[in-house]
Amino acid sequence: DEEKLKKFYIGSIDQGTTSTRFIIFDGLGQPVAQHQLEFTQNYPHPGWHEHDPKEIVETVELCIEQATQDFLDQGHEIEDIKAVGITNQRETVLVWDRETGEPLHNAIAWPDTRTKGLVRQLKEKEGADELKNICGLPLSTYPSSVKLVWLLQHDKAVKKAYDEGRLVFGTMDTWLLYNLNGGKEKNVLVTDATNASRTMFMNLETTEYDDRLLDFFKLDRKKLTLPKIVPSSDAKEFGTLAKGLLKGIRIAGCLGDQSAALVGQQAFKPGRAKNTYGTGCFLLYNVGEKPVISKHGLLATVAYDFGGKRKPVYALEGSIAVAGSGVKFLMDNLGFISSSNKISELASSVEDNGGVVFVTAFSGLFAPYWIDDAKGTIFGITQYTEQGHIARATLEATCFQTKAILDAMEKDSGHKLAELAVDGGMSSSNLCMQTQANIIGIPVDRPAMRETTALGAAIAAGFAVGVWKEFDELKEINQKDRVVFEPNISAEASAKMFKKWSRAVEMCRGWVD
Ligand code: G3P
Repeated sequence: DEEKLKKFYIGSIDQGTTSTRFIIFDGLGQPVAQHQLEFTQNYPHPGWHEHDPKEIVETVELCIEQATQDFLDQGHEIEDIKAVGITNQRETVLVWDRETGEPLHNAIAWPDTRTKGLVRQLKEKEGADELKNICGLPLSTYPSSVKLVWLLQHDKAVKKAYDEGRLVFGTMDTWLLYNLNGGKEKNVLVTDATNASRTMFMNLETTEYDDRLLDFFKLDRKKLTLPKIVPSSDAKEFGTLAKGLLKGIRIAGCLGDQSAALVGQQAFKPGRAKNTYGTGCFLLYNVGEKPVISKHGLLATVAYDFGGKRKPVYALEGSIAVAGSGVKFLMDNLGFISSSNKISELASSVEDNGGVVFVTAFSGLFAPYWIDDAKGTIFGITQYTEQGHIARATLEATCFQTKAILDAMEKDSGHKLAELAVDGGMSSSNLCMQTQANIIGIPVDRPAMRETTALGAAIAAGFAVGVWKEFDELKEINQKDRVVFEPNISAEASAKMFKKWSRAVEMCRGWVD
């Protein structure tokens, strides 16, 4: 059986906030070939964050070519690749012209906070409080809806295309699927339910667009082309790759990256959770086949939708805007380190944070606080402070927010998590994961293969083309050589640290631009 599983392969496109990857997995869930490329982060004004839509498509195509060439050089054949899955940064907004297929603006990336003022106005509007009960998300700068409204209010070309019925809105999955299928000729305009659940346009229960939501944002469906919402695992809707070495291969899976990581970690049962430390950090907790609307600052979202007889599965989500991007900030903006993987070394050069607390609120603070006007603030600096203390405080910031999210999740779900499954770039830092275990007081469980996001999209694609049929068949995948970090400080010491953090959060509110 093992031999048979080794013989088929699935490709996975992972289009994240700062880099694009293409990984080819074998049937045992092991990567056999991969390529990764970073792309330009544009920050035209404080709080603004954009990507060039075409550059992103190019990185995807290049990664596919490079990894596939490596795969062929190893002696495999293209026919061994049964399907391709796709997973992506969520909420990021793209707009293009349906007649020319050309983008009408740079992509507005999910951490962008230019909509702060708009959000304040919208919160005053009648019906604002109701939105969350329909779509699972409260109003903030984070979801796609407000970014699209901003574009319609501020960009003439976007508004003109809308008025003339030429405007297409999409999240990154839709933009990539459209382009990888060959653009306007094929005109593939789809999104999966997990991605659509981040827009504020989709009804969580029905997984269809809801006019009450679109009306709230004054969006007219006759003028705006919205992608069709389909299940995350599907052999037809996502089309086929139009060019390159994998020309003709089916795209059969599509999930927002945090949903994909949940699938990759095989958190298929209610009560299972995962925390992914990427550019941001996102904790998803499987709540089963009925959405749970949070009362404590979490989001309700579609976890995954495998289609057919299977019902969509929902999650409670705690979103942290800054994790790896905090480390990148220390590297690119402050010059503390020359590559991100040096962060652990720098943080380990000191014994503790030396009294420093860094509230990394570069995009305001997300869950469970939702403080739009918070700004990044470092507390507790003295002559004693070294780079190492700040590095440590940067890692701790994500760990503290994870703790706040777990507390909220416990209140919403009535259950305490027994252990936390982790993945993503920053989870490679032993120091960070030990700190995480100490701060949340439960074990942190890390798999050997940390590309769980890409793996999740490969799993969705594999299910669609029938290489797997039941979740049970996956249970051996990525289970060997997991590392468990047990808490090793007292509950009192941990509570004391968290109290200090909570105080710092209160103090970083209301900074005036
Ligand atoms: O919601 C944003 C999220 O999807 C981005 O993920 O891994 O790029 O931080 P990541």
